[in-house]
Amino acid sequence: MAEDPRDWEDETQAVRGGLARSPYGEISEALFLTQSFAYESAEAADARFAGGPGFIYQRFGNPTTQVFEDRLALIEGAESCRATASGMAAVHVALTGLLRAGDHLVAGRALFGSCRWIVSEWLPRFGVETTYVDATDLAAWQAAVRPNTKALLVESPANPLLEVTDIAAVAEIAHAAGARLVVDNVFATPVFQKPLALGADIVVYSATKHIDGQGRVLGGAILGAAELMTQAYKDILRHTGPALSPFNSWVLLKGLETLDLRVRRQSETAARVADLIAAHGKTRRTIHCGRPDHPQAAVVAKQMGGGGNLIAFDLGSRDAAFRFLNALEIVDISNNLGDAKSMATHPCTTTHRSMPEAERLEIGLTEGWVRMSVGLEGPGDLARDVSRALDAA
Ligand SMILES: Cc1ncc(COP(=O)(O)O)c(C=O)c1O
Repeated sequence: MAEDPRDWEDETQAVRGGLARSPYGEISEALFLTQSFAYESAEAADARFAGGPGFIYQRFGNPTTQVFEDRLALIEGAESCRATASGMAAVHVALTGLLRAGDHLVAGRALFGSCRWIVSEWLPRFGVETTYVDATDLAAWQAAVRPNTKALLVESPANPLLEVTDIAAVAEIAHAAGARLVVDNVFATPVFQKPLALGADIVVYSATKHIDGQGRVLGGAILGAAELMTQAYKDILRHTGPALSPFNSWVLLKGLETLDLRVRRQSETAARVADLIAAHGKTRRTIHCGRPDHPQAAVVAKQMGGGGNLIAFDLGSRDAAFRFLNALEIVDISNNLGDAKSMATHPCTTTHRSMPEAERLEIGLTEGWVRMSVGLEGPGDLARDVSRALDAA
């Protein structure tokens, strides 16, 4: 019986999924750095434009990009995946493809800054209203849906304080209201969480983060059922042009090959570093999805396969947070995450700077919080660096 890649383990899908070798039989996937394609006849061009198989133009699709899309779709358990030029392009297309003037969106209030800008500033220009909710409060989601609610948006775990939302329960609320649930799965990665299997309709990624994982390129992806993906996104992707470049697709599909290994190792090290941070006298609170004192530990146990590589901790004041960051010798001060190199940032003055103070306080983000993305360095070296910096905080 021929192997069905959909039955493979995630690790096999990540290495071999979507493979479409050229007649040369290359082992490493080919990079088709081409904008357009030649047709063997006018009839062939006619057939392709009529919807037949084959590529037409890089904005619509590309063989290298398709390997990335097919591979990520297999890992995610999605029927369809479309790659985008960045995570923000994915979030933008995912929402605007589902919403039109007069529609209503319900969104978890702890969102990455640019996602919040799309929801708060951009969508209202096109007549879409939003209600923000505490994403951990199921009654709040239920109370917020209206007859014209067409989409629910949540980031889980959320940036930067790692709140976790019960995705299956929110999907039920969405479906009972006739709406679609969009999940930004960046922090969990497909290694530790599969929102579609939990009932979500659409998953979005910033592939810039763990999927690349080595600080090179921007990229994004939208995944879901084939019919919904075609109906909601085919035209908007084709005509507005947020296509992922074939070069970036190639980098990202090679990133997928090691994603599982990297994320599991980072998560193990993060658990160790989080325990060390929590035990230090200078820390007021430490949040890591793998710790039993995570505020939504029961939901984590239900829907996540690991704690992930992000840690948030409160050092009590901006001065202490800055002293910590400035004392780090190995860990970089940087706002990115999911990289092989560990990074720490002060969300209030960087990633969440544009969030009004009142909204920041609503999600509990005060000036003492630091967010750390644990990388692939030796756990002993990281422990020493973080301990020294905590002593200095
Ligand atoms: C949760 C989350 N969603 C989306 C994005 C946007 O991704 P990108 O930077 O690839 O546009 C980011 C980070 O930048 C993020 O942390």
